[in-house]
Amino acid sequence: MTLVFASNNEHKIKEINSLLGDSFKLLSLGDVNIREDIPEEEPLIEGNALAKARFVYNATGMDVFADDTGLEIAALNGLPGVHSARFAGENKDSSANIRKVLSMLGSSENRIARFRTVIALIYEKKEFLFEGVVNGTITMGIKGTKGFGYDPIFLPEGRIHTFGEMELEEKNTISHRARAFEKLKEFLLRNALTNNK
Ligand code: IMP
Repeated sequence: MTLVFASNNEHKIKEINSLLGDSFKLLSLGDVNIREDIPEEEPLIEGNALAKARFVYNATGMDVFADDTGLEIAALNGLPGVHSARFAGENKDSSANIRKVLSMLGSSENRIARFRTVIALIYEKKEFLFEGVVNGTITMGIKGTKGFGYDPIFLPEGRIHTFGEMELEEKNTISHRARAFEKLKEFLLRNALTNNK
C-alpha cells in the first residue's frame, strides 16, 4: 500500500518505516515534490496534523497521513505542547528548547509530563484521527545522546533510562508515536484486507 507521510524529518521517516513494516511503501514530501514548509499554526496538535494531511491531499490527491506531537508538562500548564518544536525560537533548536524547559521548571518537584502524538489520515477521501500517549517525568538534567528533540530529558514512567539513553527499538516499544502508529497500522491493515488493496 502506498501512502504519503507528510514529513521530511529523516529521524521520523526511519522510525515510522520500522514501525509500519514492509506492507507499506511510504513516500516523503520530497518524493511527491512538496518542498515548501507546510504551515503549522493551529492551536491544537489535532488541528496541525489535519492541516498538514489536507495540504498534501489537496496537492496530490493521494492517501496521506501526517503526525503532530507535543510534550505536555503539567507544571507548565501543558507547555510546550503545540509549540514544542519552536519553544525557544524559530530555528527549532532542540538544545535551546531543553534549556528553556529545564530553566522554567527550575527545582520544581512536580515534573509530570507526557508526550502526545496525533496522526491525521486521509484515506479514500475520509479523515481519521489516531492518538498515542506516553506518560513520564522531566529529569533534572540531560541524560543520554540518542534520539532527538526532548528525548534526553524525558523519563518514561516505570523506566530507569530516558528516551535519550534508549536505542530506537526500545523507544519504539513504548513511545507516543509508536502507540499512535500502531493504531494507524491496525486500521490500514484491516481496511486493506477488506478492500483487497
Ligand atoms: P512533531 O510534531 O513530531 O514535529 O514534533 C514537534 C516537536 O516535538 C519536535 O520538534 C520535538 O522537539 C518534539 N518531539 C516530537 N517527538 C519527539 C520524540 O519522540 N522525542 C523527543 N521530542 C519529540
